[in-house]
Amino acid sequence: MLDSHTLKLKPIANINSPNNYIIALQQEYNQWAYTEEQAPQFKGQWRQQVFNKPDSAFLDLEIGTGNGLFFAHQATKHPERCLIGIERKFKPLVQSIRRALRQGATNARVLRYDAEVPWNLFAPSELNNIFIHFPDPWPKMRWHKNRLIQTEYLQKLIELQREKSYLEFKTDHRGYFDHALKVFQNSAYKMEGYTYDLHQSEFAEQNFVTHFESIFLHKGQPIYYALLSKN
Ligand SMILES: C[S@@+](CC[C@H](N)C(=O)[O-])C[C@H]1O[C@@H](n2cnc3c(N)ncnc32)[C@H](O)[C@@H]1O
Repeated sequence: MLDSHTLKLKPIANINSPNNYIIALQQEYNQWAYTEEQAPQFKGQWRQQVFNKPDSAFLDLEIGTGNGLFFAHQATKHPERCLIGIERKFKPLVQSIRRALRQGATNARVLRYDAEVPWNLFAPSELNNIFIHFPDPWPKMRWHKNRLIQTEYLQKLIELQREKSYLEFKTDHRGYFDHALKVFQNSAYKMEGYTYDLHQSEFAEQNFVTHFESIFLHKGQPIYYALLSKN
């Protein structure tokens, strides 16, 4: 599975492709965005080689940045922390880094990569906090195996994090949330708290509404939330 994952990503088209997002990624944002070929080279070295920071600096990860509303917010709210976003689609990838840079961030980078295999990108204990907001729910039974939150995935994900780090998870999908809660509770993570209605909960005050979250809120749907920690 590890060796074949790259096949799931469409290859980057020729640089002369009319696709503006690919060109923007490779030219305009080449200091801020890394391709599938480039990104694994920094495994274990992100702080020092990319961010020019000491090993003690904080390095957070957002999985599936979408259009980057949260990504830009997080980067600018915490300029003292480094932030990496993984996204497999070119358009949201470019939107994310563009938004963060426009808002003045210098501590953010995006990677075009498959979030199913983050251990190709990060060494054990390289990351601090991880954010997974509204991952694809794969609602049909026969698709459940495609959900990101799985026992083996979390076993490997927690190894990438430093002690005293968090994993934040949000979804609009009740079935995915029930599944994720079971996986969380059988994992090495400590459950700090969860709610079936984020916006009516104690977690609402410090919550930032992501792009997808705003869509579900406008439809009147509850948001499911869990906060886990590695001790
Ligand atoms: C439903 S959107 C949520 C976006 C954002 N987190 C938000 O809350 O608005 C899910 C995002 O994850 C990305 N994504 C899904 N599976 C992925 C994978 N395996 N690797 C990288 N990105 C992925 C999609 O391209 C999409 O942009």
